[in-house]
Amino acid sequence: MPERWTPDRWRGRPIAQAPDYPDMGALADTERQLASFPPLVFAGEARRLKKMLARVVAGEAFLLQGGDCAESFAEHGANNIRDFFRVILQMAVVLTYAAAMPVVKVGRIAGQFAKPRSSSMEKRDGVELPSYRGDIVNGIDFTARARLPDPRRQIEAYRQSAATLNLLRAFAQGGYANLASVQQWMLGFVKDSPQSRRYMELAEHISEALGFMQACGLDLESHPELSTTDLYTSHEALLLGYEQAMTRVDSTSGDWYCTSGHMLWIGDRTRQLDHAHIEFCRGIKNPLGLKCGPTLKPDELLRLIEVLNPDNEPGRLTLIGRFGADKVGDLLPPLVRAVQREARAVVWSCDPMHGNTITSANGYKTRPFERILQEVKTFFSVHAAEGSYAGGVHLEMTGNNVTECTGGARALTDEDLNDRYHTFCDPRLNAEQSVDLAFLLAELLKTKRIARAQPLPAAARQ
Ligand code: PEP
Ligand code: CO
Repeated sequence: MPERWTPDRWRGRPIAQAPDYPDMGALADTERQLASFPPLVFAGEARRLKKMLARVVAGEAFLLQGGDCAESFAEHGANNIRDFFRVILQMAVVLTYAAAMPVVKVGRIAGQFAKPRSSSMEKRDGVELPSYRGDIVNGIDFTARARLPDPRRQIEAYRQSAATLNLLRAFAQGGYANLASVQQWMLGFVKDSPQSRRYMELAEHISEALGFMQACGLDLESHPELSTTDLYTSHEALLLGYEQAMTRVDSTSGDWYCTSGHMLWIGDRTRQLDHAHIEFCRGIKNPLGLKCGPTLKPDELLRLIEVLNPDNEPGRLTLIGRFGADKVGDLLPPLVRAVQREARAVVWSCDPMHGNTITSANGYKTRPFERILQEVKTFFSVHAAEGSYAGGVHLEMTGNNVTECTGGARALTDEDLNDRYHTFCDPRLNAEQSVDLAFLLAELLKTKRIARAQPLPAAARQ
């Protein structure tokens, strides 16, 4: 029987990826202040998301999770939030229509400020400084001053998360997400893009269907599910002092919830069984994600599942595979089989971004769209072969027209990366590439739906 869990128990464990704060007194003051601030999300919302994710486990819904690799203080603003909201709504509509099932929308937003790094120091022209660890920790400029971890940044991260969430709630509930406006969400498309034509066709189908339902006597106004939506928030639970300060007892259930976001995930670099991040996450009741990279072995995965989801509660745990297009076909099947064998209820989601990062000929960290798509396709086919459900995707994307990933319908080249390469960390799909990917995913989901609806006659199955 493990000892009673408390939000600070992680402090006695080894920890990876923790910043070196120069003034521990100032850090403790900040954490005390944060602990007195109101929660950003409510336990009941996290429970609602868990219920939706349980539907994904059952194969009745699909998870769409995405957003910035790292949110930045400088890019915080209404337009960016609106553009992100719009593109995730466009993608969700494309996927819902194809799969004929609910799409659970989870943003990497309103708290995605802390980054794990492959090296704790960065060297440029003979000068060595601490690596940038996300705006919640230090600044991106390559100066000793900017790179010094500053706890006051956590207060700013909280403030921005609150403002972002407030606007997202307004967009989701205040009329912007009304399905009757599906045509207006077009506004973000570059004119005459291949997506705009396909999207317009889809929007027309939806408008026709709504018109048909209305003609049959259905009062659209009285159905909030047509005029509002839910967008949940998520981020990597990396900076544990901040997460601990945001962890509160929910008065209705008596359980601990981390109120910094609805869903938290554990990164591929901080998933050591006996380490601090697993110890912290196991005690909070939020839905959790676990990144599964190439070094994860099946028995290790089963032990992690046992610690993170001992009651085998569906919706509690989402496994986010991030292997790389060339590795997923070999590395995913043994993990899926282990999970099947032990009858573990999990969502399987595909992060086709983090295993497919390369350096372009002209020196940019980039991701070729074709490799991203290839990993998604292989992920789907592995699950089909294993009789398991490919339940979602996890993407790094933005609503802006950046040039960070190559390829896509516009065939962005290495040269194009010079134009609008704005990310603070990893390269993101731009708005067009995101909708592109949604249409390609829609094909996969549609094929699956048709296969489900029309089981082959026994003779044809042999
Ligand atoms: C991320 O999601 O930005 C990330 C760092 O992922 P991973 O832990 O899978 O490397
Ligand atoms: Co990233």
